[in-house]
Amino acid sequence: MTLVVTIATAAHQDWLVAHDTEVTDAWVQRCLLQSEYVIAEWQGHPVGFLRYSLFWGKIPFMDMIRVRPEHRRRGVGVALFQHWEALMRDNGATLLMTSAQADEPAPLAWHKRNGFSEAGAVQFGALQTVAEIFLVKDAS
Ligand SMILES: CC(C)(COP(=O)(O)OP(=O)(O)OC[C@H]1O[C@@H](n2cnc3c(N)ncnc32)[C@H](O)[C@@H]1OP(=O)(O)O)[C@@H](O)C(=O)NCCC(=O)NCCS
Repeated sequence: MTLVVTIATAAHQDWLVAHDTEVTDAWVQRCLLQSEYVIAEWQGHPVGFLRYSLFWGKIPFMDMIRVRPEHRRRGVGVALFQHWEALMRDNGATLLMTSAQADEPAPLAWHKRNGFSEAGAVQFGALQTVAEIFLVKDAS
């Protein structure tokens, strides 16, 4: 069997609630209803997801991408990202956005491998002690 990457459906809700631990169950449900999750399945089982939103209501923003630790470095993350990128281009996007914490070099490096460039840093005061680095990718 091969890796299958699709837009997640209600059938993935329990798995996403268990694995997308940064957000509430209600937010998972909301994103599913908006088709804002891409999911990767290996041999019929979910192994990773990408969750996005729309900055300014129009610029695709990759909020979170996560691959199960035992499935990392096998191309699952890139497959999720490329599926999402193609969908966003098909929907008319000309710019993609994402972000990562300044003290997390691995995700930052990974985003740059996928064509993102640093566009600035924002401090969030008490909400997060380290700066958040924003990255953009030309999708035109
Ligand atoms: C970042 C993450 C999604 C990458 O997923 P992945 O499936 O391991 O990545 P891939 O295997 O598709 O990566 C493809 C390429 O990037 C490389 N790569 C993987 N992780 C990397 C990293 N942390 N830094 C630099 N390069 C990396 C791989 O070696 C591979 O290169 P190759 O084709 O030359 O061998 C995964 O490591 C993860 O879930 N991390 C924890 C959550 C996280 O930090 N998310 C990002 C911020 S929201």
